[in-house]
Amino acid sequence: MKLDIPEYILGIDPYKPGKPMEELEREYGITDSIKLASNENPLGPSPKAIEAVRDCLNAAHRYPDGGGWALVSRIAAKLKLKPENIVLGNGSDEIIGMLTRVLLRPGDEVLVPQPTFSMYDIMVRSAGATTVSVPLDGAMAVDLTAIRGHLTPRTRMVFICNPNNPTGTVITREKFEAFLDDLPAGVVVVIDEAYIEFVTDPDCIRGTDYLREDLPLMLLRTFSKAYGLAGLRIGYAVMPAELSGYIHRVRQPFNAALPAQVAAAAALEDDAFLQRTLQTVRTGLTYLHRSLEKAGIAYFPTQSNFFLIHVGRSADDVFEQMLRKGVIIRSMTSYGYTDMIRVNVGLPHENERFVQALCEVLNVGPIPPDGQ
Ligand SMILES: Cc1ncc(COP(=O)(O)O)c(C=O)c1O
Repeated sequence: MKLDIPEYILGIDPYKPGKPMEELEREYGITDSIKLASNENPLGPSPKAIEAVRDCLNAAHRYPDGGGWALVSRIAAKLKLKPENIVLGNGSDEIIGMLTRVLLRPGDEVLVPQPTFSMYDIMVRSAGATTVSVPLDGAMAVDLTAIRGHLTPRTRMVFICNPNNPTGTVITREKFEAFLDDLPAGVVVVIDEAYIEFVTDPDCIRGTDYLREDLPLMLLRTFSKAYGLAGLRIGYAVMPAELSGYIHRVRQPFNAALPAQVAAAAALEDDAFLQRTLQTVRTGLTYLHRSLEKAGIAYFPTQSNFFLIHVGRSADDVFEQMLRKGVIIRSMTSYGYTDMIRVNVGLPHENERFVQALCEVLNVGPIPPDGQ
């Protein structure tokens, strides 16, 4: 075929997701694999969400409410905002694409911390705009001073992931407020709060504290992580009503599926499930950190449900050896950290299996078994 694909599309590497368990089992003939690679909820979905999905299926022949009124109203009420401030997406991934399509033209620049979640760069480039990478600071946190230093008249957007994936670091109020004070008019700031529910640091910013109708600030939230609905694909963005009006112009009419909408609405009300999730993650993190310390393996602190581990040799190699033991984690090579892996907290037996497998692969330990 002789196709005229734009250069900026040819330059994009497809997003690499965590390896699916089915794929690993097919390729390696393993039957009991565990996946700690995509920062999913180890508890599964909220039971209330499952029930809501079952109950909605008789209406599956109808299109869903395109604007998702029921869910949007609940989110708005929870955040003390108006429904006009909320836009639903088929996962927050989809919303990143809608934002870049609305806001960017070829030649525009977007500031993106490096490393961070790779969909920002992919979506910026697919709009024909330019990603300007801004390295993290020495503590592996988003460097707002450096971002300010990279602003040019062509800068249209800034992406901030808080907590940052993959480093688990957060932005403090003091630094963010100084950054906002200096921001040139018209630059849109997007804060991706995919993991905000897991944060315990009181100094960490909450984007909702800064929303104003006259400030081009947007938040991305997802039901894929703390709410356990990654497979249903549902997320939302919070923004001034003027901006949401533009986003709705490019939104597909029924982008949030019916089961996803009802599951999200049910999960939002299931506070017991959310608390259980947070407890599981905190207990699991304590166990994992303590076990790695005992084994003499260096790790980085986190404000999320995942963290980085310094394996001191090829992360790709460690990833491959862990796969053979049926444990799926993430090599950080594609993020520029060739000797680090990222793992998310699992169920207690998954955490134990991970520690055991990692100790074997790194040839340390064995560490004595320890309760969680
Ligand atoms: C920072 C960040 N934002 C967004 C997403 C995508 O979320 P969703 O499942 O809502 O598309 C992820 C998924 O890993 C993520 O890590």
